[in-house]
This record gives sequence, structure tokens and C-alpha cells, in this order.
Amino acid sequence: GDDGYELWLKYKPVTDSSIKAEYLRYLSFISKSGNGEVMQSALRELQTGLKSLLGKNVNVKNAVGNKSGGIILRLDPSTDTAKLPEEGYRIQLSAGNIVISSKSESGILYGTFALLRHMQMQLSVKTLNLASSPKVRYRMLNHWDNPDGTIERGYAGSSLWKWYELPERVDPRYQDYARANASLGINGTVLNNVNASARFMSQEYIVKVAAVASVMRKYGIRTYLSVYFAAPKTLGGLPSSDPLDPKVRAWWKEKVALIYKEIPDFGGFLVKANSEGEPGPQDYGRTHADGANMLAEAFQPYDGIVIWRAFVYKADANADRFKAAYEEFVPLDGKFDPKVILQVKNGPIDFQPREPFSPLFGNMPKTPLGVEFQLTQEYLGFATHAVYEAPIFKETLESDTYVNGAGSTVAKVIDGSLHGHSRTLMAGVANTGSDRNWTGHPLAQANWYAFGRLSWDHQLTSDQIATEWAGLTLTRNQKAMEPIVKLMLKSREIYVGYNTPLGLSRPWMGVHFAPEPWQSRGSRPDWTAVYYHRADSVGLGFDRTVSGSNALAQYRPEVQQQWNNPDKTPLPYLLWFHHVAWNKELSTGRTLWQELLTRFYTCANSVVWMQQQWDLAKPSLDPQVYTDVAARLKVQHREAIWWRDAWVLYLQTFARQLIPKDFEPPK
Ligand code: GCU
Repeated sequence: GDDGYELWLKYKPVTDSSIKAEYLRYLSFISKSGNGEVMQSALRELQTGLKSLLGKNVNVKNAVGNKSGGIILRLDPSTDTAKLPEEGYRIQLSAGNIVISSKSESGILYGTFALLRHMQMQLSVKTLNLASSPKVRYRMLNHWDNPDGTIERGYAGSSLWKWYELPERVDPRYQDYARANASLGINGTVLNNVNASARFMSQEYIVKVAAVASVMRKYGIRTYLSVYFAAPKTLGGLPSSDPLDPKVRAWWKEKVALIYKEIPDFGGFLVKANSEGEPGPQDYGRTHADGANMLAEAFQPYDGIVIWRAFVYKADANADRFKAAYEEFVPLDGKFDPKVILQVKNGPIDFQPREPFSPLFGNMPKTPLGVEFQLTQEYLGFATHAVYEAPIFKETLESDTYVNGAGSTVAKVIDGSLHGHSRTLMAGVANTGSDRNWTGHPLAQANWYAFGRLSWDHQLTSDQIATEWAGLTLTRNQKAMEPIVKLMLKSREIYVGYNTPLGLSRPWMGVHFAPEPWQSRGSRPDWTAVYYHRADSVGLGFDRTVSGSNALAQYRPEVQQQWNNPDKTPLPYLLWFHHVAWNKELSTGRTLWQELLTRFYTCANSVVWMQQQWDLAKPSLDPQVYTDVAARLKVQHREAIWWRDAWVLYLQTFARQLIPKDFEPPK
């Protein structure tokens, strides 16, 4: 059976005989220029891949002269690969060889994976001509992993990083992790939780991190750390961690220097400061810019960066959390050191199943803004619900901010093209863990895959990526792939329907799983469910127009227009911006109450449809994978009904309406 460990790198033997004949023409040798570690990885990957796809050991020949019939890995400074030439690649047929060229070894590695992907999909190489370069420079995973091996919001086992046995023992799995990322174009990884332990700044841990970094380096991946802002005090024994205190600045400089001694290609720091109780510069009356710039100063001698998170909100039940990041950060535009990138969650609140795009995008033109997506399914049903996330990522990326007129999409903000930035970033909160199949739910592998592919090229479509992933990972059978891809593409909408229809909002308390919309006692005044969903006897939803919090004013007029009139707001966003009366008739002809019922019921039922799609593919699926997903879909159905009923019963206490006698949830 397939235990999922090989992910999308299965390299199953090519079965199409005419395609196989085509490929065999290029297997008489591999030649390479360059001898660095990354080139070695490319070569190793190519040899492994070809052996497994085509059953042939292909040897390296270095002086090939005019020979044809091979694959050439050519490190070539003149390679013409558009915008970000360093990591771009070109794959062409030339003089009877397949030639992969790039300016860098990393580019060769990415090209090699692209060729192997092409071959895994059994596509012809007769007119091979592929060129690609990344649209975003820093493409990275954020691990919310703790030193004790737990993972905050992790649902696939414990941490991959075995701190207690490092640096002496380096788990071979680190290399498999690096390979998987490199195959997608991911080039950075933050090893530890943003709620960071100061321990990672100790020499003891720096050498452990260095051992992991040496594995990552072989695959073109740079290692980063999250830092605890108060480390100078708690670890360094200084009286404060004030960013304007020269002793504190000196402490960070020395720390960064020590890190670079052990990790010459260290990527930089990720910082969560003055956010959810974490320490930060505001503890000393300083700004986020003061804090970030202090760290940036420590990185001046090196090629590292500071990624500062914009995830902030106040413990104030009267404030609108939606507005908080904009209010704190927009006034700081232009004040950040050029080495700082601001990392902004895709939506204004917190990775909800559907959020409008964060109003920060486009509104800080002088500051490079990166986007942070969440792969781990904190609000998406953990590891028992199948939710394909590419449509979530795409929805944000394609949103138009209108800051420089129509077409000013979030994608153009974060790829730097709108405001001319070259330090550009896409980050994904990882969904990996020690489970054999990496992600718990076998279909959640697709979310890692989709994030990686989109971080390289945000123009790929959800459909393309799903088809590619399913083909590489589950089956090559066209007939089986269709229902799987359909299931994937609809899964997010189905989840939203039984979880947060119509823009309903509910960051749950506790573990963020159970449907507890009634939760009224968090540890903070704003951490209650009613704060988010605003149910009362009149209606439901958060008024963010002028009559309410006026958060809409943070967007450009064109965007406001889409959302400021309750009669014209697209239904998926309705309750994000309006408090709507229970009996108000919506564009569907149903009242709000009826529409909620319809969605809760239809979408909970739709999980049965998902099961049917999965069953259609069964004959072509590995039995182990089939059974695992089929069982999880059963759990999903049970929980979807549970969530539906919990919401309906709870909302009834406000709406005081019955489920109509003749209500027949559409099948
Ligand atoms: C969410 C999540 C936390 C996490 C935080 C963050 O609130 O529940 O676990 O620390 O986001 O992104 O910093």
C-alpha cells in the first residue's frame, strides 16, 4: 500500500510506450557543469527519478563534446530567464540533448524537478521548451513548532525537528522534507513557532539549527528563526529589551554574528511582537519600526532579512479587530529599513474559511508586504475535513485593491510589481508533522503542494494545480482524476457552507475546532464568539459600514462600493460587513434565516456527494489511500452535521424562528 511518504515524488514507471520510447532517446548520459551541493542534489534527483521512471541507470559524463542523446545540466550566466534570473530555468532540446540551463544551481535544481514532473505526467518531449522563473523571491514555510516537539495548531503528529538528538544525529527525514519543498520551488523555512522560545538564540540551539540548515542548503533552502523579542532580557540578562537601548542593539548584533558563524547562509528572523501577549517594542513606548529596524541593523553585514508580522489587535471588546493592523502599521509606511518585509495574513482577522483581503495590501506602498497563508487547517477542520485551499489563496491573490486603479491585485502587491519592490515574500504556515504521510489527511498534501506552486507562480489556477497534484500523487487514470479534482475544487465552498456561510464569523475559543458559537468567556474581553458574529434578536453579522465600525473606509472607494450596500454585497461576504435582519429577503428570494438553513443543510449533505466522488475513483486508487480518505470523509460528514445542528440551534435562540415545516434541504 501507499503510505503517502513519497508525496508527489513517486516517480512511478512510465507506462505509455510511445512516450517511454521518446524519453529513452535521452538517457545515454547526464552531463553537468558546476560542482556545488545544489548541483549534486539536482544530479542525484535526476538519476533517482530516471531510474524509477524508466528503469535505467544513467551515468554522468563530463566531456561530452558533440555527443547527443543525453541530458545536460548547464550552469550558464547568460541564460535568458526574465525577471528574477537567478533562480529561473529553461528546458530545451538542443543538438539532440535535453538541456536544462540556469544562472544558478538552484535554477538547475528547479528545472530538474520540472523535467521530472513533466515525465511523471507522461508528456511528450518532442517539442520541449519550458522556461520559468519565480515571481516571488522569498517562498517559505513557517513552522509553528516548539522546542518540546509539539506544534501549535499542528494536526499531523509532532514536530519534524528532533531538537534533543541534534546536532549529532541528523534525521534523514530532513532531507526528504527539503526535497519535497525544493520540488515546488520553496526556498526558505522558519523552523520554530512565531510564539518563539528564547532558547533558539542560545548557542546550544544555534548549533542544532546549523545542523538542520546544512541539509536545507543542499536543496537551495535557507533557514530562518522566529525570535522572542525580549530575549536580550530573558536570555541575555540585560535590564531591558528596549530597541533603542545601545546595549540591546549590541546584544542582537553579537547574536546575529554568532549565528552567521555557524550558518553562513542564514535567512533571517521572523518576528511576532506586541501580538497576542508577545513582548515587543511597544513595551518600551517604541514602534514596530523601531523594533524591526534594530534587528535589520544587526543584519547589515549579511544577506539576511527581518520579516515582521502585522498580526496585531487589541484586547478591547469595543474596537473592531478588523481595523487594528491597518491602524497600527499604515502610519509607519516609509519608516522601515529596506531589509524589513512586513508579513500580512491574507485576511484582516485570522485565517477564517473566507475573509475579504486585508486592507493593508496596497496601502503601504513604501514597504514590501508579504502575504501569509495558513496551510495547517486550524479553522478548516483539522485533519478530518478535506478542504483544498488553493481557491482560498487565489481568492486573496486575485482580489483587486484598486490602489493604482483597476487591476491592482494583491498578487501584484506581494510580487513587488505594483510598487517596485524586489524583496518579495509568500509564506505558508506549514501543515507538516511526523505522521508517516506528513500531513495527516492524505488530501492535505495538496495544500502544501498548491502553496509551493503558487509561491513560484501565482498565475497557476486552482484547477491546474489540483489536476497536477492528483496526477502525480493519486492516479494517472484520467477517468478517476475527474471526480477527485471536482471534489477538491468544491471542497472549500462546501466547508464554508456548513461552517461559516454568508460571511458568518467565529474564531472559536479553546482549540478552535468544536462548534461552540455560544462561547462567551475567553481570557480576553474580545475573545468571545458573539464579538465576531454579532447575533442578537434583530439579526446577525458585523456592521462595518459607516453606521458601524466603518472598517470599510480602509479600502479604496471601488472596493467599498462592492461591499457597502447590503442589497448589493455578494452573499459570501454579506455578514462580514452588515448586520442583517433575520427576516430580510436576500437576492435568492429567501430570508436570511431561510438562507442560512439552506446552506447549512445543503452543504452538510454535500459531504455525501464528496464521498460519492471519491468512490468513483476507487478502482484506480491505492487501497490504503482510498480507505484512509474514505474513512476521514465519514468523520467529516458526522462533524458537518454536528456543526450544522450546533449553529442552527444556537442561532435559533436569537432568531426565535423555527425550521419551517415544509423545509426540505435540497439534496
Ligand atoms: C492564531 C492562532 C495562534 C497563532 C496566531 C498567530 O491566533 O490561533 O495559535 O499564534 O494565530 O498567527 O500568531
